[in-house]
Amino acid sequence: MALLGAFLCCLLAAWHASPGLGLPLAPAVGGCPARAAGQFWHVTDLHLDPTYHITDDHTKVCASSKGANASNPGPFGDVLCDSPYQLIMSAFDFIKNSGQEASFMIWTGDSPPHVPVPELSTDTVIKVITNMTTTVQNLFPNLQVFPALGNHDYWPQDQLPIATSKVYNAVAKLWKPWLDEEAISTLSTGGFYSQKVTCNPNLRIISLNTNLYYGPNIVTLNKTDPANQFEWLEKTLNSSQQNKEKVYIIAHVPVGYLPFSSGIPAMRQYYNEKLIDIFRRYSSVIAGQFYGHTHRDSIMVLSDEKGSPVSSVFVAPAVTPVKGVLQRETNNPGVRLFRYEPGDYTLSDMLQYYLNLTEANLKGESNWKLEYVLTQTYGIEDLQPQSLYGLAKQFSMLGSQQFTKYYNYFFVSYDSSAICDKKCKALQICAIMNLDHISYVDCLKQYYIKNNN
Ligand SMILES: *[C@@H]1O[C@H](CO)[C@@H](O)[C@H](O)[C@H]1NC(C)=O
Ligand SMILES: *[C@@H]1O[C@H](CO)[C@@H](O)[C@H](O)[C@H]1NC(C)=O
Ligand SMILES: *[C@@H]1O[C@H](CO)[C@@H](O)[C@H](O)[C@H]1NC(C)=O
Ligand SMILES: *[C@@H]1O[C@H](CO)[C@@H](O)[C@H](O)[C@H]1NC(C)=O
Ligand SMILES: *[C@@H]1O[C@H](CO)[C@@H](O)[C@H](O)[C@H]1NC(C)=O
Ligand SMILES: [Zn+2]
Ligand SMILES: [Zn+2]
Repeated sequence: MALLGAFLCCLLAAWHASPGLGLPLAPAVGGCPARAAGQFWHVTDLHLDPTYHITDDHTKVCASSKGANASNPGPFGDVLCDSPYQLIMSAFDFIKNSGQEASFMIWTGDSPPHVPVPELSTDTVIKVITNMTTTVQNLFPNLQVFPALGNHDYWPQDQLPIATSKVYNAVAKLWKPWLDEEAISTLSTGGFYSQKVTCNPNLRIISLNTNLYYGPNIVTLNKTDPANQFEWLEKTLNSSQQNKEKVYIIAHVPVGYLPFSSGIPAMRQYYNEKLIDIFRRYSSVIAGQFYGHTHRDSIMVLSDEKGSPVSSVFVAPAVTPVKGVLQRETNNPGVRLFRYEPGDYTLSDMLQYYLNLTEANLKGESNWKLEYVLTQTYGIEDLQPQSLYGLAKQFSMLGSQQFTKYYNYFFVSYDSSAICDKKCKALQICAIMNLDHISYVDCLKQYYIKNNN
């Protein structure tokens, strides 16, 4: 209801202040913050584990530990478990009480826990997504939220279909307060949508269902354009260009190469190449790209065919701290705030917040803190492709202190003693700077030659 009020207020304000007059468009009352706020939140990979509870038998703390003993379980979770509800609530409470005014929030998917397929069902997946949506709507009745579906937001996991489904219909209904009719329609048939930002005229969010391109999704094997999403994306970007809008791309599975593990893209290579081609052609419309899924904090800079940086890409760390028994590193829980120029939506800064999980469990209270401010920690101007490209060049230097910082933030300050050896660093640097196959392979080759002379 309150969102409707906010919508009307902005609509009326937009009516009175025709664009181009430089008048502040949205009054601070009734939902939309002052236009100058120029901020939005990004949360991702909540992975609620409803079974989480403290008990003496550590194999029984959470289903997501899959029979392993939880390592040091406390009220805010454990590194072998997905999020207890209390951890997720602490993150949203922090956002609510941070004193930061935001025009909207993006939420890039993965609400259900990592448990074996037989332990979930379509109904339980929908229940978890409903719980998370209701939680957000109760806490932020005036905030427009832009969700994207994750590979875990389906049952069986990863198998997101190319036509309508129970889950697509369920989320279309749940997310109605944030979206208009056309967005609801494509969401229920293909799991993707585009939607103008109520509080920001001429800014459009395109929420892609990149789970259709994810390797484990067998539904889309051999399909050139699953759910006709590529065709729709081009059409949408083209019309944004003609209408002089700016676009933020949001999705769960990111474009580009994974910054760990040996040289594979996050999605199937063919689909990655298709997306890169589209993003290059429309880079003047796209003011930023925002993803989740890896659970780690990373940046990428998309360059055009000639090697000039044209698009800034941000992968946000997860709220869940979960890791496998054999993994050494994981991430502390994180949420982030982006800053942008209210006039043209270019990205100016990013503030990463985190919860020291060990400390929170020790003290029995959650003290979410600022981890870093991107421009300040690295001494760069803004978040434009050119600035990030310069930063990546600094990272690539031998013994770069900037890269040491980056690698600590990669795990959300979970383990400052983590060492990135030569191979690790090559994979990181090449993933940051090269998103297409040809330039990525070339980058790794160059690194290999350099390091073996
Ligand atoms: C979500 O689930 C948790 C338990 O996992 C419960 O305590 C909470 O009340 C639920 N919230 C909503 C809004 O359904
Ligand atoms: C869990 O810990 C208990 C007590 O230390 C131990 O007896 C048991 O073997 C452990 N279980 C697993 C699956 O590691
Ligand atoms: C996909 O194509 C490959 C090679 O043409 C073929 O071997 C495979 O059976 C196809 N898979 C499906 C699911 O159609
Ligand atoms: C956008 O569509 C128009 C009309 O269909 C076409 O002429 C134009 O080339 C398209 N723009 C891009 C960048 O592809
Ligand atoms: C997190 O808290 C633990 C326990 O108090 C402490 O040892 C560790 O240094 C803290 N980590 C950070 C990044 O502050
Ligand atoms: Zn995830
Ligand atoms: Zn995922």
